[in-house]
Amino acid sequence: MAEPIILGIESTCDETAAGIVQGNTLLANVVASSMDMHARYGGVIPEIASRAHAEAFVPVVQKALESANLDLSDIDGIAVSAGPGLAGCLAVGVSGAKALALAANKPIYGINHVIGHISVTQLQFGAIPENALALIVSGGHTSLLQVKDIARDVRIVGTTLDDAAGECFDKIARLLGFPYPGGPHIDRHAKLGDKNALRVPQGLTKGNAGKQHPYDFSFSGVKTAVARWIEQRQEQGEPIPVDDVCASLADSVADVLSGKAMKACKALGSDTLIVGGGFSANSQLREALLAKGKQQHVEVRLPRRELCTDNGSMVAMLGSNLMNAGVEPSPLDFSIDSAMAL
Ligand code: KG4
Ligand code: ZN
Repeated sequence: MAEPIILGIESTCDETAAGIVQGNTLLANVVASSMDMHARYGGVIPEIASRAHAEAFVPVVQKALESANLDLSDIDGIAVSAGPGLAGCLAVGVSGAKALALAANKPIYGINHVIGHISVTQLQFGAIPENALALIVSGGHTSLLQVKDIARDVRIVGTTLDDAAGECFDKIARLLGFPYPGGPHIDRHAKLGDKNALRVPQGLTKGNAGKQHPYDFSFSGVKTAVARWIEQRQEQGEPIPVDDVCASLADSVADVLSGKAMKACKALGSDTLIVGGGFSANSQLREALLAKGKQQHVEVRLPRRELCTDNGSMVAMLGSNLMNAGVEPSPLDFSIDSAMAL
């Protein structure tokens, strides 16, 4: 029998997205972003993002169906991110998805967005091997996860105790005068600078903190240290060596993320590391992971850029996994959960 065709809908933050998959094949991937509307505020404004979802939802779904040459009646199931994310944004996507499920009489799955970032790698690399580890890094999350069973059992190995890595980059980028999201600007400038120009602290890696939190992260100290360094120079009327600040920051963060991910792979006997989330587009992180993976004989699965950032295909892929595993669909009155745990 043919694999089921799943429509996935994503609206956790500033992307309204719809993706369609069949098995591990991508049939459509349409993303509308309200990112530009937030640029001048230095971060996502939930109210603006929610309104943008309400406008984009139907056209995005329509475009995804058209580009796959399908009607809603051809879809076998609908999946939608039910959390974690911004409540008002989630409400738009989930309400829309429920309406589609009701109209077309299809099963619906409210899924966990973070696990979606892991599933999406199946579109590029095929089935997720047993006992894989995942590093999911974005503006909202920084987590190390153990994938026992993608449909039913994904466990937290470590997480950030404060800011996400992308959030830390975005805040420092703002101090350096870059628009939101600043992560890609830091990436670009880091390639031109000296990574040893300033000492950036590595949160939770040393001494007792390193022992108590072997796989946890902390980026608020990184942000404060770099911000103070910039402010001191400004007070003294000295120019800011932007490229050097970016290079030092990017090198330090890439080192901590890749180091802890590899340490966890070793401790948990995992030979595959799946990477996802918007920050996994970062050049310095990708380089560090590939280099350490090679040394440690760990296969590092780095998705292509459009699958790293938020999209509907990741949601569809996880929905497909749930359906194939025989997981019960969600009832039509299921709730959103902005702080959804695993
Ligand atoms: O997953 P995503 O699209 O949205 C969520 O935050 O959930 O990730 C966006 C984050 C932003 O913080 C952005 O600055 C960061 O990912 N980002 C990057 C790069 N591309 C995106 N950070 C560093 N280097 C990049 N190349
Ligand atoms: Zn995300």
